[in-house]
Amino acid sequence: MAKAYKIAVIGGDGTGPEVTAEAVKVLKAAADKFKFKVDLTHFDFGGERYKRTGETLPDSAIAELRKFDSILLGAIGHPDVAPGILEKGILLKARFELDQYINLRPVRLFPGVETPLKNKGPEDIDYVVVRENTGDAYTGTGGFTMKGTPNEVAVQSAVYNRFQVDRCLKYAFEYTRKYGKKARGKGDKNTLALCGKTNVLTYIYDLWERAFHEMGKKNYPDITREYYHVDATCMWMVKNPEWFDVIVTGNMFGDIITDLGAITQGGMGIAAGGNINPEGVSMFEPIGGSAPKYTGKGVINPLAAICAAQMMLETLGEEKAAKKIDEAVKFVTSKKLKSLAAGKMGYSTSQVGDLVANKVAE
Ligand code: IPM
Ligand code: MN
Repeated sequence: MAKAYKIAVIGGDGTGPEVTAEAVKVLKAAADKFKFKVDLTHFDFGGERYKRTGETLPDSAIAELRKFDSILLGAIGHPDVAPGILEKGILLKARFELDQYINLRPVRLFPGVETPLKNKGPEDIDYVVVRENTGDAYTGTGGFTMKGTPNEVAVQSAVYNRFQVDRCLKYAFEYTRKYGKKARGKGDKNTLALCGKTNVLTYIYDLWERAFHEMGKKNYPDITREYYHVDATCMWMVKNPEWFDVIVTGNMFGDIITDLGAITQGGMGIAAGGNINPEGVSMFEPIGGSAPKYTGKGVINPLAAICAAQMMLETLGEEKAAKKIDEAVKFVTSKKLKSLAAGKMGYSTSQVGDLVANKVAE
């Protein structure tokens, strides 16, 4: 019997639903071609629902989402809702409650896509960031004292425990062994680089660095270990991106460096990420925002959402289908699109979805 995957689809706000529709189109084409089934359930969490009901992502929804094999998310962010409410109430809540402790963000330049990096091409910009997704300054540890007075104090602590660090490192090492440059036939070694700040954050990144070398020495002697401070990482991501293979880092640095990475791979129209719980339910998303001003215009690039669906299939173990989507996206970027930018693609949102889906069906 054909395998069937239960997928929760949260289109979300702004242009989220339109790009998600294209990702679903491609998902269905891949399912037909590779003989598996996708059983989709749509949810309306997002700004509109919040405005109507005051609800972001209720606990009952978390319980329901746990029953799915995977979640496809569009975008969260509404112009009428104060910043932080939907992000914390939906996106971060899902990440934390479902313990999606890895945020996997490939930084890959597809053929035909323009990068702001001078003299760099797809061979050079081809690495992955493994961002820890449950700790750091994101835990909400902290608070105010004397709020509203001239002496107001605000504290927001970066928090990590050994368990969180170890499970993230284990994922990163395993990922590097499976998908590192050597494993992909693109070099003579698989390299995992820790991105930290051991010269200033002498507690947090000391913990990370010790755990990194202990685990590497003991269980992954075949993987080359490197260390970079986060500021230097930014510099080398621009100057020598070809140095990187897999980078592992904490939540906050990971947030920042993956936006830098995204712009080097052509921007938010193409960058996707996976919020992964290797033992539970994962959630895949284009990492760009909801772009409200473009809502309903059909001009937004759906490739990032399509790449999110691609990562979902890879994580579910549908590697052949994932590879086919990857090839189809490369075909579209190299042979079809004029640009990735909204309104400048030479095609509408749904036409781009059709191009990819038709190529997958071939
Ligand atoms: C991301 C986003 C989120 C984050 C925001 C929206 C809370 O920037 O997914 O990178 O900081 O993780
Ligand atoms: Mn971010």
